[in-house]
Amino acid sequence: MSAALRAPPAAGDNSGIVAAWRDRTPGSAHLAREAADLFPSGITHDGRLVDPYGPYIVRAQGAHKWDVDGNRYVDFYGGHGALILGQAHPVVTARVAEVEAQGTQFGASHPLEVRWGQAVKRLVPSAERIRFTSSGTEATLMAVRLARAFTGRPKLMRFKGHFHGWHDHMTTGFASHFDGTPTPGVLAGVAEGVVLAEPGDIADVTAKLAAGDVAAVIVEPNGASFGQVPLRPEFIAALRKATEATGTLLILDEVIAGFRYSPGGVGAALGIVPDLSTWAKILAGGLPGGCVTGRRDILDLLDFAAAPAAKREKIGHQGTYNANPVSAAAGSAALEIIAQGGVCERAAATAADLRATLNDTIAEEGLAWAVYGESSGWHIFLNPKGRDISPERFDPFAVTLDEYKNPPARLMGRLRLALLVNGIDTSGRLSGFTSIAHTAEDIAHTAAALRESIRMLRAEGEV
Ligand SMILES: Cc1ncc(COP(=O)(O)O)c(C=O)c1O
Repeated sequence: MSAALRAPPAAGDNSGIVAAWRDRTPGSAHLAREAADLFPSGITHDGRLVDPYGPYIVRAQGAHKWDVDGNRYVDFYGGHGALILGQAHPVVTARVAEVEAQGTQFGASHPLEVRWGQAVKRLVPSAERIRFTSSGTEATLMAVRLARAFTGRPKLMRFKGHFHGWHDHMTTGFASHFDGTPTPGVLAGVAEGVVLAEPGDIADVTAKLAAGDVAAVIVEPNGASFGQVPLRPEFIAALRKATEATGTLLILDEVIAGFRYSPGGVGAALGIVPDLSTWAKILAGGLPGGCVTGRRDILDLLDFAAAPAAKREKIGHQGTYNANPVSAAAGSAALEIIAQGGVCERAAATAADLRATLNDTIAEEGLAWAVYGESSGWHIFLNPKGRDISPERFDPFAVTLDEYKNPPARLMGRLRLALLVNGIDTSGRLSGFTSIAHTAEDIAHTAAALRESIRMLRAEGEV
């Protein structure tokens, strides 16, 4: 990449971390400038925002990915959590290539959707019926519609800070508008149909279900953002009881946790039988895809014969790419590998080692931060209120939602960038996932990168 394509340092920005980033990534800087002319903020997903710009990736394999400038990253973003087998798993890519060569869109039923559905049913005990969608957002949209139609009730209960995709019912109270007012572009009536509850507070839930007007409660069953704001299993059990007692449906949103927390998701691991569940990410093996699973009598509202037989009006559902053959190929391949056993456990064991190693690094550097999480997830807590914590003994339940949802934005952004400079890719919130492709060498490299990143932050007075 020629020097002419290098972005000049932003005016007034004399950060050594930013300078090091610009120095390493002239090709990404060039693409970021072109993207800025095309896309709002130059990006295609809010979670991909990096200050001043992120890496443009051209290739990925196993636990690593490479940008246009040839820099290698240990990949903890894992395709937004979709890749528990690692990038470009050979069985998945071979199946995709084989199927793709035969056609990508038949506009008809095809054998692979049956194989994919059977793979889901094998892993998910509560999946009496399945309907494929093109994304997790579409899956939660359908689950809510099914719940309203089935119960005849108008409202949806959600938990503050929980993410269920970006459709109109899911925006209030996720990252903002915790008072229940609509986010821009969402009808007031839609926001009024959402009852926001405090995560982990069963008394709040019970009080708000008492009116009997809530069709369903939807929850990220191991807490917001794969346990970044954790929830106790007892809370999910209590939620199951409270919903049953009031004729309210329980929707476990397993989009991010499904096939990762355990092969059958959080519901199967905790022995909780939901009325409906929503799935995506790992479900489709790294390609677009989602689904709703659950009780037959509820999903039968989509059935041309069963709905009228039950004296119900059928719910329409189209979707050009529902169960498309390429996603079905990748998804069935991934789920069949997971069904062989050991995948979730292996990724979780790696994450446990990583969390412990990173906490040692933080302790050695004398910072009151912590790395925590469960299963194959990990999150860096930057301790915005200066709590007296020690990395190894940090209790994530002792922290308030406010501290999780209002992290120190500048420090978080600079640490993310410093980690990128040192070859580590995390989510923007400094969370990550491990896959079966991550090794002890990746863990050691990540710890060294964190140490170097902390020293870079220290050098410019950020910590
Ligand atoms: C728990 C949860 N639900 C729903 C979604 C939305 O899924 P998608 O991005 O496939 O629309 C996500 C995405 O991150 C998620 O984590």
